Amino acid sequence: MKTIIEPFKIKSVEPIFFTTKEERVDILKEAHFNPFLIKAKNVIIDLLTDSGTSAMSSEQWAGMMRGDESYAGSSSFFHFEETVRSITHMPFIIPTHQGRASEKILFSIIGGKGKYFVSNTLFDTTRANIEFSGAEGVDLLCAEGNQPALIAPFKGNMDVARLEQFIQDKGAENIPIVMITITNNSGGGQPVSMENIKAVRAVCTAHNIPLFIDACRFAENAYFIKLREKGYENKTVFEIAQELFSYADGCTMSAKKDAFANIGGFLAMKDEDLAMHCRNLLVITEGFPTYGGLAGRDLEAIAIGLKEIMEEDYLRYRIRSIEYIGDKLDIDNIPYIKPTGGHAVYLDAKAFLPHIPAHEFPGQALCCELFIEGGIRGVEIGTVMFGKYDADGNTIPAPMELVRLAIPRRVYTQSHIDYVTEVISAVYKRRNEIKGLKISYESPLLRHFTAKFERL
Ligand code: F0G
Repeated sequence: MKTIIEPFKIKSVEPIFFTTKEERVDILKEAHFNPFLIKAKNVIIDLLTDSGTSAMSSEQWAGMMRGDESYAGSSSFFHFEETVRSITHMPFIIPTHQGRASEKILFSIIGGKGKYFVSNTLFDTTRANIEFSGAEGVDLLCAEGNQPALIAPFKGNMDVARLEQFIQDKGAENIPIVMITITNNSGGGQPVSMENIKAVRAVCTAHNIPLFIDACRFAENAYFIKLREKGYENKTVFEIAQELFSYADGCTMSAKKDAFANIGGFLAMKDEDLAMHCRNLLVITEGFPTYGGLAGRDLEAIAIGLKEIMEEDYLRYRIRSIEYIGDKLDIDNIPYIKPTGGHAVYLDAKAFLPHIPAHEFPGQALCCELFIEGGIRGVEIGTVMFGKYDADGNTIPAPMELVRLAIPRRVYTQSHIDYVTEVISAVYKRRNEIKGLKISYESPLLRHFTAKFERL
């Protein structure tokens, strides 16, 4: 088979600024060993996130010029609405400035003390919005999902038996919605099968609980279904996406992922009364219902991006380009979540740095070393992000210690990626010398964004 190449040409470029290893040691120290606090111009390859970092197409930029900036009833809104509706078939579509704004609106209305929100794995902003409302977030991921080295096709699936049990225990009346995250970002970018979505739907129907989808990476998930699930090989990604949304009562979306947009999101749903409450809150916090938190040009870019993201030449390249990183890591037996996910590679820091205990943050330590070695910025998804303290102030570690290297869409070429794997290999060779970290400052909510560290 021939190399699967980037299905695009480059028309506009941005420079990368190079730094020396000595300079990076100082930069990291100034950033208190937290990559979120490093200036982007000091990063060589930025794999912090795939969110809002996509390269837009010439069509999207043309759409930006056509954007209708009318306050009410903008034609860009109707283009956006029609596109979202064609995929989701949801009657009520509410634009927001990004995913968490959709979450904030939704959980302000349906959340609150004594309620539970059950998911395969809630993303951190989703969980934070749930907890901020006074409710509790519960992750019921399938057993395979917590075993990094295990190869299975749908490690993002929800544990349906535990869901059923949980509903029996807590009572359906205390569970306003069940939410499936596709793909499962916090668990390795792993997909959820159609079979699993249907099974969760059946449980929800039996207990009269609505099902919502966190749809940030719906196209990547749909493509995995096409590749891995029997009966879908001859369906288009568009058809698979339509089927997937047909089982849901609503969704939240960050258009910063699978819509190739630099900003934007939406909430969509079938329930008119809920939509009315959401729009009331939208008007106070985001904007008028036909623009939400966005400019007309953003709505136009999202509408075009949502169509481009489902092009199969793109998705074939996208999924293969992530898998390619895994193939390179396998050469040195470097531990990562297998198989590779849809938008990122997740290094298994627990296995990479077994001598660093969870309370010394092996994932954070690995992030720091990738930056020093090659100016690569990734993000810890482990005890810094999800760790808690018990009553005595001891760390309760996260189930996994990961470093996510998220690949921005249509941004880096194969040689950038080759460089990334060379840097990871170089760090792996000197892994025994790497030391842990301790926290010197942290905020009470979402501490990973602003925490400061010291080297042990
Ligand atoms: N849900 C999932 C699964 C996400 O990955 C994100 C964002 C959100 C919701 C929130 O969307 O950022 O537009 O407010 N994930 C980014 C990331 C930040 O780096 O994974 P947002």
